[in-house]
Amino acid sequence: MALGGLFGTAAVAVVVSLAVHVALNCPIQPLPSPRPPPPAARYRPNNLLQGLEKLGEGQLSAPEDVYVDAAAGGTLYTATRDGWLQRMHPNGSWEQWRFVGGTGLLGIAPSADGSVLVCDADKGLLRVEEGRVTILASTVEGSTIRFADEAIEASDGTVYFSDASTRFGFDRWFHAYVESQPTGRLLKYDPRTGKASVALDNLSFANGVALSRDEAFVIVCETGSAGSNARGCG
Ligand SMILES: *[C@@H]1O[C@H](CO)[C@@H](O)[C@H](O)[C@H]1NC(C)=O
Ligand SMILES: *[C@@H]1O[C@H](CO)[C@@H](O)[C@H](O)[C@H]1NC(C)=O
Repeated sequence: MALGGLFGTAAVAVVVSLAVHVALNCPIQPLPSPRPPPPAARYRPNNLLQGLEKLGEGQLSAPEDVYVDAAAGGTLYTATRDGWLQRMHPNGSWEQWRFVGGTGLLGIAPSADGSVLVCDADKGLLRVEEGRVTILASTVEGSTIRFADEAIEASDGTVYFSDASTRFGFDRWFHAYVESQPTGRLLKYDPRTGKASVALDNLSFANGVALSRDEAFVIVCETGSAGSNARGCG
C-alpha cells in the first residue's frame, strides 16, 4: 500500500513538472481556430495519384518543387536539400547541375533571362546563374525574410514569392505548423528597383505560388488552417 502511494505521488509530481515545463517553455502561441471547411463539392474524389511514378526516388534529397523546360524536350529541374539544383534529362538520367549550398532550398522557377530563381528558406530569394549565386531579397520593408518558400516570375520580370512564417524559420517549420498563426506573406520582388515589398500578409503558412496564364492574378496556397485554404489576389 505504502509503495502504491509512493508511485502515485511520483506520478503526480511528474505530470505537474511536465505541465509547468510546457507552460514555461512552450515555443508556440496557438490561437483557437475554426474547423477547416469541408472540401468543396466541385472537387470530386479521384484516385489519379495511385498511378504515379516516382522520379529520382532514392537519388534526390527531399526535392520540394519542380519545373519543366518544354523547350529543352521536357528537362525537369528541382532543388534538393543537399544544396544542389538537379535536372532530369529526357532520357531519364539525373544530373547534379548547379551547386548553391545551404540546407534549405525549396522553391525553384525559371527566369526569362536563362537564370533560375530559387527560394532558400534561410537566405531569401536567390538568382542562380552559371558559377554565380546572387541574393535578390533577404529582407522586405525592414523585416527579415525567414522562410522563403516558393517563387514565380511574371512576364515583366516581377517575382512573386511566399514567406511561410515571420515567427519561425525552416528549422522550426513544425512550430509554425502547429501554432497555425497567420504570419506568412506573399512578397513581390521588383527587378527595376531591386527591392521586395509585401503584396499580402496575414497568411497561414504561405506556400505554393502560381500565376494565371493571362497573369491577371496570383494564387498562393496556405498550408496552415487559420485562414481559408487558398486565396487569390489581383
Ligand atoms: C542522357 O542525356 C544526357 C544529356 O543529353 C547525357 O549527358 C547523358 O549521357 C545521357 N545518358 C544516357 C544514359 O544516355
Ligand atoms: C497582419 O499582419 C501585420 C504585420 O504584417 C500585423 O501588424 C497585424 O496585426 C496582422 N493582422 C492580424 C489580423 O493578424
